[in-house]
Amino acid sequence: MPARPSRLTECPAYEALAQHHGRIAEVHLRDLFASDADRFRRFSRRLPGMLVDFSKNRLTDATLALLLDLARECGVEAKRDAMFAGEKINTTEGRAVLHTALRNRSGRPVLVDGQDVMPAVTAVLAKMKDFSDRIRSGAWTGATGQRITDVVNIGIGGSDLGPRMVVEALKPWHQPGLRVRFVSNVDGSDIAEVLKACDPATTLFLVASKTFTTQETLTNAHTARRWIVEALGEDAVAKHFAALSTNGQDVAAFGIDTANMFEFWDWVGGRYSLWSAIGLPIAVAVGFERFEQLLAGGHAMDEHFRTAPLDQNIPVLLAMIGVWYVDFFGADTYAILPYDQYLHRFPAHFQQVDMESNGKRVTLSGEPVDVQTGPILFGEPGTNGQHSFYQLIHQGTRMVPCDFIAPARSQNPIGDHHAILLSNFFAQTEALMRGKTPDEVRAELAAKGLDEAAVAAALPHRVFPGNRPSTSILVDQVDPHTLGMLIALYEHKVFVQGAVWDVNSFDQWGVELGKQLAKQILPELEAGTPVDGHDASTNGLINAWLEMRTG
Ligand code: F6P
Repeated sequence: MPARPSRLTECPAYEALAQHHGRIAEVHLRDLFASDADRFRRFSRRLPGMLVDFSKNRLTDATLALLLDLARECGVEAKRDAMFAGEKINTTEGRAVLHTALRNRSGRPVLVDGQDVMPAVTAVLAKMKDFSDRIRSGAWTGATGQRITDVVNIGIGGSDLGPRMVVEALKPWHQPGLRVRFVSNVDGSDIAEVLKACDPATTLFLVASKTFTTQETLTNAHTARRWIVEALGEDAVAKHFAALSTNGQDVAAFGIDTANMFEFWDWVGGRYSLWSAIGLPIAVAVGFERFEQLLAGGHAMDEHFRTAPLDQNIPVLLAMIGVWYVDFFGADTYAILPYDQYLHRFPAHFQQVDMESNGKRVTLSGEPVDVQTGPILFGEPGTNGQHSFYQLIHQGTRMVPCDFIAPARSQNPIGDHHAILLSNFFAQTEALMRGKTPDEVRAELAAKGLDEAAVAAALPHRVFPGNRPSTSILVDQVDPHTLGMLIALYEHKVFVQGAVWDVNSFDQWGVELGKQLAKQILPELEAGTPVDGHDASTNGLINAWLEMRTG
């Protein structure tokens, strides 16, 4: 395949899609369904335990064919193979991208710089098993000989969102009497509230930081350390702290015995790290066997992504549908709506995965992109979201493509809760697709006895345009294996979009400037004297704070 033109808009398939968009933009999904009784079957795909229905998207066979042509022209398959092969596709940091190796259950070696990383991966997993088993059985005791009742993960970003989301999602498998908590924010209120609920003698901290230099995490870790030392003395640190990091030197400097350090490697991106030692709180919460089931679910999706033809390849299909909306319909946003309370942190995790990965404005070669890239991702669990922001999705001026996710079986089959939940899940995508026509509204209001004038006044407010796209994902149940599949599905979707946009999905330089400036401002706040070295607003705000802080 010849290299694609440097500008995405010059790809033949992109140009063809732009023209095709002109033809299809006004076509209503209601008509697409009316003219094709087979639409659901043709535009849905199944994997064991998972059904993905993308038939309620604004596309036809021709659209899909062109989107897949675009994926091919952008070298998605070759880029995917390069990732799995350990090539240094994170070019701005000179790193391989191998979260897939962490969940590699195939027995195949994975080479980085000619060396198989699998023995090291397996060794860390064995260490995680041993540690999590000892915490869960009570064999690991604190400095006073008591068993651990509270494990507190201190981390932020990828060292918090992924493991926190999974620990929440797998709550039905938590061990009674063993609580796994999370502290991320440098706001002292976060750690203060967690410590209030804990006893130093029975609390163990996991300091989770890839770099072990992150200001928030180290600040919280030092506070936790002081809390332990004040209660139990300096020697207690070894029994109450472990570290999850790539940086042994700084872990040792902090005072954590490197025997209690769980290593990972620079080829694991922070937002893709829940499969690594960063997943230790997951193993502690639900047991190592279930952590392995999560890995197996991720691996099953990797195998699908690696081998399925593009028109059957679920991550590729979802990614290209996303590109269709972002670049051709001008959709700025994108919602993930899990109809499962246990998945309530799923959108928050993928906010980082998606927006930190593809929130980029230059290509791999440093040229400005010529199209829009990653959308703004948000979401809340259904049905809560329905009573909050769905109004805008149904009747606002913007198109918000939505992914609806639901389990066929609830972990808590109480009365008719699950049927009610799923009736809403099905109803929402139907409502978004169909809408309600002026004729339907008129008939409805007339049947209620409204006179003609009242009907005319009410009509514009009651009409739903419909034609609002959604994808529905049904899984058997939210368990470690299907959760692993779901997470890997979205990771790969983000990868494919990054490959099309030709951005580096694995760096995050955009978070650095704020960090640098905060480092300059902190000493100014500590000095407490008025400042004049910033812009007028920043000077004004700092000086006002200096006055206001004393109350
Ligand atoms: O600030 C962004 C970031 O670098 C994320 O990419 C990362 O997940 C997070 O900070 C935490 O980094 P670390 O694990 O090194 O503490």
